[in-house]
Amino acid sequence: TEHAQEQGFVLAIDQGTTSSRAIIFDRQGHIVSTAQQEIKQYYPKPGWVEHDASEIWVSVLGVVASALSQAEIAPDRIKAIGITNQRETAVVWDRHTGRPIHHAIVWQSRQTQDICEELKRQGHEDLIRRKTGLLIDPYFSGTKIKWLLDHVEGARERAESGDLLFGTIDSWLVWKLSGGKAHVTDYSNASRTLLYNIFELAWDDELLGVLGVPRSMLPEVRSSSEVYAHTVEHHFFGKRVPIAGIAGDQQAALFGQACFERGMAKNTYGTGCFMLMNTGSEAVRSSHGLLTTIAWGIGGQVEYALEGSVFVAGSAMQWLRDGLRMLKTSADSEAYASRVPSTEGVYVVPAFVGMGTPYWDSDMRGAVFGLTRGTTKEHFIRATLESLAYQSKDVLDVMTLDSGLELQGLRVDGGAVRNDFLMQFQSDLLGADVERPVVNETTALGAAYLAGLAVGYWSGKQEIADGWKLERTFKPAMPEGERERLHAGWKKAVQAAMAFKP
Ligand code: G3P
Repeated sequence: TEHAQEQGFVLAIDQGTTSSRAIIFDRQGHIVSTAQQEIKQYYPKPGWVEHDASEIWVSVLGVVASALSQAEIAPDRIKAIGITNQRETAVVWDRHTGRPIHHAIVWQSRQTQDICEELKRQGHEDLIRRKTGLLIDPYFSGTKIKWLLDHVEGARERAESGDLLFGTIDSWLVWKLSGGKAHVTDYSNASRTLLYNIFELAWDDELLGVLGVPRSMLPEVRSSSEVYAHTVEHHFFGKRVPIAGIAGDQQAALFGQACFERGMAKNTYGTGCFMLMNTGSEAVRSSHGLLTTIAWGIGGQVEYALEGSVFVAGSAMQWLRDGLRMLKTSADSEAYASRVPSTEGVYVVPAFVGMGTPYWDSDMRGAVFGLTRGTTKEHFIRATLESLAYQSKDVLDVMTLDSGLELQGLRVDGGAVRNDFLMQFQSDLLGADVERPVVNETTALGAAYLAGLAVGYWSGKQEIADGWKLERTFKPAMPEGERERLHAGWKKAVQAAMAFKP
């Protein structure tokens, strides 16, 4: 420990959809301490999801203080701070007072569906796809900013006179940590806004025009690994610490999983489920509903990824726990699911906020199929758990088509990967190896790596790749016919759910 104290540590702030976390890592990439705080979810109308950005800021200060004190680490032992965040969630605040003008609109929220319909009617789909690698869906930040400017009284005028700033959560936190000095974001977060040209690496005037967003609101786009600013001393740090890494949480996880080579992919089971495949310096365009996105930019080199986005994964388990009260903890789902040999044909389609890849249907609702008098809680829980794997299977299928690359093994991380039942079922469904690393906090680790690289704490990608350690491989054991039968049932269930529009 004395040696470690000497070398210092790197702090990762992981601001996610349901909680804020601070994790301190040492040079070996081991976790020294971790603190977590849930944040409040606001559901003002069905399908709408909002956060209080001020509460997020306070929760971040809280978890950082607690991670430091738990490990008895003086703030001056922190060599760099890396930030990773729930992506797309849009905050607009007043640059003079630092106060948000409204709740942040969360990535899951469907409240800009009308704006999206209008954009489609105006025929902007192709323009957006061509420049941003994304498609028109309430998921991305651009329409959320427009919504805020349209709905908050006086906001548009204030934005036009340069008084308002926009940021995703990373920008918001760096701005707060730096005492309002730095208004920045990184390539990976910028690539999720609908306003950024991922090929020219610039905010795009045409897109800004289409969405009516004044350029003066936008953060400066920087690389994912460099010193952007220092913390102000009056925060609990008592010292200026460099903020040196930023990446959206899914890109950070790809980095933390050391997926540095073309064709390497990871799947993160968080609130949602996001599979990203590194495509190197080439931006691969999808014809099957995958997103083309920036993985990171380091030292003037930008790398791209193909992404499949599943909106509901861990949140389906929370729904079983909090909404239906079928579970005490999400982890209990494993025991319930294992008590029955199958769901006996029950399928849960958790389309609570529509569905992303490959369906992109933003107004569908969730559904349950195949109930009989013999259906039990165990079947129901198992079917919900299996829906995480089915959705990931749908994503991997189109990823194989679009990339032309056959997956060797899928690296997994996120809370639900501790669920052995789910991991085995996932491997069975994919017919591919599922590889679980020793450190499954890869999102935070990725942010720590990006920050540590910028200040010379780690030497380079090779050292990081060498540090990636496999904990367990799940190998496919299900007969081909069985896999196909189960998956065909799922496909039918999704089609039926899509056909039902209340
Ligand atoms: O795109 C949304 C994603 O970044 C949210 O991640 O981990 O909060 O579910 P998570």
